[in-house]
Amino acid sequence: MVATAQRTKLEPKRLPLIPNYPSFRHWKKAALEEKLSEKPLSIYLHIPFCTQRCSFCYYKTLDLKEYKPEVEGYIDALCREIEMVSDRFDLGNRPIHAVYFGGGTPSLLVEHQFEKIVEALHKNFKHFESKKQFSLEAEPLTVSRSKMETLAQLGVTRLSMGVQSFDSDIIKLSGRGHDEKQAYRAIDIAQEAGQGKWTINIDLLSGLAGETEETWAKSVECALDTGVESITVYKMEAFANTEVFKLGVRQETVNLPSEEQELQFMRYAMERFEKANYLPWSFFTYTKDGCDESKYTTSIWRGIDFYGFGVSAFGCLDGALLQNTSDLDKYATIVEGDQLPLTRGYRFTSLDRMVREVLLGMKLLRLDLKGFKNRYGLKLEKLCASTLRELEAEDFVRVSNDAIELTSKGILYGDYVGHTLSESLKEISR
Ligand SMILES: C[S@@+](CC[C@H](N)C(=O)[O-])C[C@H]1O[C@@H](n2cnc3c(N)ncnc32)[C@H](O)[C@@H]1O
Ligand code: SF4
Repeated sequence: MVATAQRTKLEPKRLPLIPNYPSFRHWKKAALEEKLSEKPLSIYLHIPFCTQRCSFCYYKTLDLKEYKPEVEGYIDALCREIEMVSDRFDLGNRPIHAVYFGGGTPSLLVEHQFEKIVEALHKNFKHFESKKQFSLEAEPLTVSRSKMETLAQLGVTRLSMGVQSFDSDIIKLSGRGHDEKQAYRAIDIAQEAGQGKWTINIDLLSGLAGETEETWAKSVECALDTGVESITVYKMEAFANTEVFKLGVRQETVNLPSEEQELQFMRYAMERFEKANYLPWSFFTYTKDGCDESKYTTSIWRGIDFYGFGVSAFGCLDGALLQNTSDLDKYATIVEGDQLPLTRGYRFTSLDRMVREVLLGMKLLRLDLKGFKNRYGLKLEKLCASTLRELEAEDFVRVSNDAIELTSKGILYGDYVGHTLSESLKEISR
């Protein structure tokens, strides 16, 4: 039926040659300038080692007690990888947007190891000095005054401290080595050493084993009392590779808060953050007066290119994802042999790009509809009209001509809106 109806509309006619698409009258000088300028790049450096194995952690980490002899060689391999990658992908002239040392626990490195890596970055990225932010993840027991001073001198501008909880019993239950006092001590040292040079973020985990309303309220209040610029609350996910999954989900020998309790914890945190004027820039990070977003994280969610150095690190260059091997020995051997340790990649389809923009962009609480139309030539609000109507009716979003914005309820439910919208986009191609 459909095929017949289409055929009757055709009016076969010999057309003049169509020389190009779109026609030259749509071409603009601005597009040329954009193409000729170097695209910004963010840099991620992965330090896989940890001094402990926390019961909730799903990251693939390596125990320093076992791997200490390998650390120096790893740093050398990382520096060699930086040199090879900048050369192979011609990245040396790109403006550097943000730099992020993540892990594992980057703060367990010692001073000369940080210096080596920063020197390699300077040497191989001409514009390293003008980066907009330099972040590093830290764990309380690895914080010392001299190390913090070195990091501040090396140009770190954002320190992200994993605290998880300020209740010593909850921290102990999570398998971490520090207690409440040591968390405070580390924050004090970091605040003093980095005064005027960096801002500090604290990570808290909502839904840890044994958490109650009282212990959670205490953690939120203590985090606010420290006066740090930024507080991140991750929902603790009991992934199958964690101790907490074994004890809390399979054996049920430790108490995990229910979904409803965890939602209540987050509601409490959001109310307290709002009162203290900590404003969200994503649905899990709140900053004092809205002052301090993680430029690395936002750049990735906005689609800026990034490169991940180190074992298992991944990046995204010119519409393709690339990932290194996650085997430490292989990583070191391949790099020593002057090869890139890449192991797999993924090239985006046009649909992937749109889905990625919606899913990752919604994490930043607001999705720019005009920008979407400019990039894809499609109106997202039309493609997903009925889903958006439902999300709006249930008070998850506000939709205007310019943007889709998360409401407080939308923020509370995290990735729910992004996931729902991207599923509705994918439906179009099925
Ligand atoms: C790679 S860790 C870096 C911080 C440092 N290693 C530490 O723990 O102090 C980054 C953050 O991931 C979060 N995280 C770890 N396991 C998690 C899980 N199962 N669910 C949600 N977030 C988790 C923690 O809040 C942690 O601070
Ligand atoms: S939470 Fe941090 S310190 Fe604990 S195992 Fe994970 S990465 Fe290591």
